[in-house]
Formats: sequence, structure tokens, C-alpha cells
Amino acid sequence: MYSFENERLDLNMRINDFVESLTLKEKFKLLSGTRYWWTKPIRRLRIPRMGMSDGPNGVAYHSSFRKNTQFPVTKCLASTWDKQLAERVGVAMGEEVRAVNKHILLAPGINIDRTPLNGRTFEYFSEDPFLTKEMAKPFVKGLQSQNIGACIKHYAANNQEFKRYTINALIDERTLHEIYLRSFEDIVKNTNPWSFMACYNKVNGFHGCENPHLIQDILFNKWKFDGFVMSDWFATRFTSTTGCINAGLSLEMPRTIIYKKKSLLSALDENQITEERIDELLKRMVKIMIKTEVFKKKIARGRRNTEEHRQLAQKIAEEGIVLLKNEGILPLNSSKELKIAIKGRNTNKKMGKFNYGGSSAVIPPFEITPLNGIGVRTHIKLVKDPKEADYVIIFTGLNHGKHEDAEGFDRLQLHLPEEEEKMIMETCEKNPNTIVVLINGGPIAMEKWLNAVPAVIEAWYPGMMGGHAIAKVLFGDINPSGKLPITFPKKIDDSPAHTNPDTYPGDKQVHYREGIYVGYRYFDKFNIEPLFPFGFGLSYTTFEMSTCELDKEIVTREEIITIKINIKNIGMVSGAEVVQVYVSDVESSVDRPQNELVGFAKISLQPQEEKVLCIPVRIEDFAFWDVSIHDWKVESGEYRLRIGSSSRSIIFEKIIMVE
Ligand code: BGC
Repeated sequence: MYSFENERLDLNMRINDFVESLTLKEKFKLLSGTRYWWTKPIRRLRIPRMGMSDGPNGVAYHSSFRKNTQFPVTKCLASTWDKQLAERVGVAMGEEVRAVNKHILLAPGINIDRTPLNGRTFEYFSEDPFLTKEMAKPFVKGLQSQNIGACIKHYAANNQEFKRYTINALIDERTLHEIYLRSFEDIVKNTNPWSFMACYNKVNGFHGCENPHLIQDILFNKWKFDGFVMSDWFATRFTSTTGCINAGLSLEMPRTIIYKKKSLLSALDENQITEERIDELLKRMVKIMIKTEVFKKKIARGRRNTEEHRQLAQKIAEEGIVLLKNEGILPLNSSKELKIAIKGRNTNKKMGKFNYGGSSAVIPPFEITPLNGIGVRTHIKLVKDPKEADYVIIFTGLNHGKHEDAEGFDRLQLHLPEEEEKMIMETCEKNPNTIVVLINGGPIAMEKWLNAVPAVIEAWYPGMMGGHAIAKVLFGDINPSGKLPITFPKKIDDSPAHTNPDTYPGDKQVHYREGIYVGYRYFDKFNIEPLFPFGFGLSYTTFEMSTCELDKEIVTREEIITIKINIKNIGMVSGAEVVQVYVSDVESSVDRPQNELVGFAKISLQPQEEKVLCIPVRIEDFAFWDVSIHDWKVESGEYRLRIGSSSRSIIFEKIIMVE
């Protein structure tokens, strides 16, 4: 037995022994991947390969060649605002990765939604760094509890698909840290993720894989990340051997491009890189090979496609669906015989297909479409003509095709395809009881048709059980409780990145001129009325928040305060509410947003039930990035806490003093 195989030895000894056992040629071999999803095995030393799998919605087909549980997309998970669900789905995905004999899941994707047109909006959590980190942390924790490594991607500022391989994102220091790196930092410091994926694009002049500032200075030195960094697939094409070794890239994926023997040898000969540096990068990776049990002979078997995972997929969809508009028409009566006409391009569309949406595509063994979900209801009669129907339900949205929520292509417009808009309008003329259900991954402009319809539901891409979840919401078995993790603008020009062609889409460069004013921070500052604000979502019941108390009003920077809210369900059905806490610095030495999310909690209440909801808020989260000290700073003085049910419906305001 080699010492590195000996589980009884200390981790560092095993790591050192591993690297010392390798010849220079074997070291080179380990620096790049093979067969798309694997590290290279070294037979002489019985070193097995470590395997990876996409992606954020479950174990993707192309990286496992198996059908697996298709969970709702990340945007839907984020809309639940439910950290426990995020942890549970992390555990479940870990079990599925294990069941296909892989070691790392290429997830979560935590880039910030800078523009709603980003083709991968569906794969990311939010426009807000706080919500992103609070939901991503439990996901990582759950996943890694199964000894499956998370791969936090795409580091960093991969915020558009247009020219994603080459575009140079120009971002000032404060914005970079305060908006685009904040969740990466918090995840590193609090959940110890095992790997990172470096992005394709450039950030301030350097591609992700050879960006010494992002990897060596910030990730390694400042945040003390002790996992390893791999490239995005083929991202090294645009970089150099020396640049990547010196920046800190341990593994180029999916195959050798720049970490070739010849290039590495000549870089060593010319003293552009050192063997110690290569050893250090390999040690980072070996540590994770040990943690993910690559060397273990007997490992616990995983589980995939279980009933439990399907139920979890359905639960996330049920909690993530957002009710955007309801003029009393929903829920539909489930005790009466109803005539329903169904229309729209997503009525019976399966979204779990090869390459749908790109690398995150999971193909499930079966998929409940909206039509299947409605079809199992016995009390309804489907009719063709909207005029004959009691209600019309239109299942529309986008479809993961090119320019419609797909990797590699940004969307070309904020609104639905014109034919769908026209169809909605024509249907409403025939039958005003028309309900629109959107199946898509990000904001949709609705100005043309919103007034004509009495109800709109955002169902996101709800996964393999989505049709059941949607039907349950429509018929009131489930009371919707999802809240938007992203602002829905009225029109694309209202959106912060869309003031000028060089702020989006850019060409060689894209200027992040809006600075820290991304998402609701921008809409609030410039007083722009969104179509639906951040944090918004309706319910079939009404919640009343009567009192709000803080456990302290004078605090220090290290403290956590607890906000206690008395909340009552004053309606007729049970439901859940997400209470949100926003902060603003009353007197600040720098320009700061009017509202920044710093806390939230979700509570379920039966009709007439009243409870005290406690929301912990960390004063550290009040910090801004101070460019004079290149670090976070919480200034002393007064802060205003604004507490409510969305970023634009604030019920309580409280002042606290930070000493
Ligand atoms: C994507 C990554 C993905 C990788 C492997 C890339 O094109 O950007 O998110 O993990 O492919 O499929």
C-alpha cells in the first residue's frame, strides 16, 4: 500500500507522500483532464481518476449517460427563499452524483444577474449577493455532506453569454467585491467548498484561468481557499501555460491544451514557473481526491431516481412558483366540474432533453408536463374553444432553445415571442377568464398583455414533477409562497446594464458603469417603477404583521441582532410568508444603496394562526467595500432597518446604532 492510500495517516502526510511519489511527467499528466469528465489515472501508482458531472439542476445526461432526477432550476430554488430546501437538494444531488460514480458536481452557479437577458439566468440564484450566498451555502453544505465536492462557478463575473469566451468585463474594485465576489467570498469562508471553476471571460484584462488577482491574491491569499481551481471547459484555449500555473489553475478541463509536457518543460527551463508551484497546485487537488474518496476501495453507494428525490423536486417547484397577479380568479374551484381550454407553446413541452439550456440539461426518466398535471384532475373537462370554457389556461414562456434561456446565447428580447403575445391577446378577447402560466428562467416584459389577464403565475423551469406542482397551485392544493429573486423590469431599457451599447452587450469590452447599482439597488436609486419588484410574490391568504421588536438597538460590528415579528395568517387557507429585512446606512461617507437585503425568514401558518418569527441579522452584512483600505467596512452610526414582504412593501422601520 502506498502511504497516500492509507486512511489512518494524517491528511497532510498523505498529500505530501502522493506528490513526492510522482515523476515530473506524471505531475504534468495530472494537471489536465481526459475523456471530458475525468482526471487522468496514473497506473504505476494505482491512482484512480476523479470524475465530474454537470450541473446545477441534477446530474446531467451528457456527463453520466444516465437519466436522473431533474430538479427545478436554480432560479426556482432561489424563489423558495427556503434554506432547508437548499440543503436538502444539495444532499439529494450528492447522492445522485455518488450513484453515477462521480466525485464532483459542477454546481452551484452563483453569478449575479446583471442583465435579465443573460442566457443562463435560470442557472443562477439572484441579482442580490446576500440571497445568493444564503441559499448557496446550505446547498454546498448538503452536497459536501455526501463527500461529493461542490464546484463553485463561474469565477467570476461571467454575467452574459454574448462573447462569453473573449469579453473583458471592466469592473471597479468596489463593485467587484461588493456585488460580484461577495457570495463567492462568503461561501469560501463559511462552507469550505472543495473546488472552483474559473470563467471563460476576462475580468479587468485577464481571463479567469490566468487571472492572478482573482485566484492567487483574492481566492488563495485573502480568502484562504484551500481547495483547487479547474478551468471551465476549453477555457484554457485563450490562455498561456505560464499564466495559468502562476495564477493558480490546478486542472485544465476537459483535456490537455496548455498543460502539455513540452510547454510545461520549456516554462520550467526558462524559469517562468517552478516545480514547487506545480506541487502546490497538485496538493490542492489531491486533498480533494482524498476527501471525495477517490482512493477508497469501499464507498457508500449513492441513490438516484428515488421517490424521495422526486418528492423533493416537486416540493421545490411548489415552493418556488411565484404568483405574480391574481384578481381573485385563483385558485380554481376543485370541487366543481369545470370546462377548461388549454393553450400555449409550453403546454406539453418536455424541458428535460439533451442540451436543452446547455450543460445543465438533465434528462429525467419521465416528466410531468403542465398538460399531464392538469390531465390527472378528474373534475375538469378539457375543451378546445376558449369561448366554451369556464377558464383558459395558457402555458407559455421560453423553451431553453437558442436565445431562449440557453447557455451560449443571450436572449434577444425581454418579452415573449410575438406569436405568443398575440395569442394571449386574442384569447383574452374570446374569454376574459384567462390565466397565464410562465415557464421560463428569468424576467419577462408583460406590458402588452398584463392588463388583459386576471392572473399570472411564474413557474420557472419546474423540473420533472413540475406539472403536478403547477396544477396544485392552480387548484389551491398548494398556496403559492415563492418570491422573486430578481426584479422584473417593465422594459429592457429600465434595466441597469442597458443604458448604452458599451455597458451591454459590449464588444471586446463591457463596462460595468452602473457600479454597485445592480437589480433593485438600481431601480430604487433612480426611482424606476419595476413591473414586479425584487422579493415580490402573492399568496391566496393574507398575512398581518402586527409588531416588530429588536433584541438590541445599540450593537457592535461583530454582533448578530434578532428581529422578532408577530405575524398572523388572517385569511381562510394555510400559507407561508417570507419576511425580508433591508438595511440602509443613514449617514454614510460613501454613496450607498437605499435598500440592501440583510436577512429573511420563511414561516408557515394555518388560518388564524399567529406566531413570533425570529430573523437573525449579522451586522457584518451591513459592510461596504472600502477602496481606501481594500477591505470591508461597517461604519459606525445609525442604520435604518426596513422590514416587509418585498423590497417595495415595507411594513416596519427601525433604527439601530452601530458602535
Ligand atoms: C459551462 C460550465 C459547465 C461545463 C461542463 C461549460 O460550457 O460553462 O458551466 O460545467 O461546460 O459542461
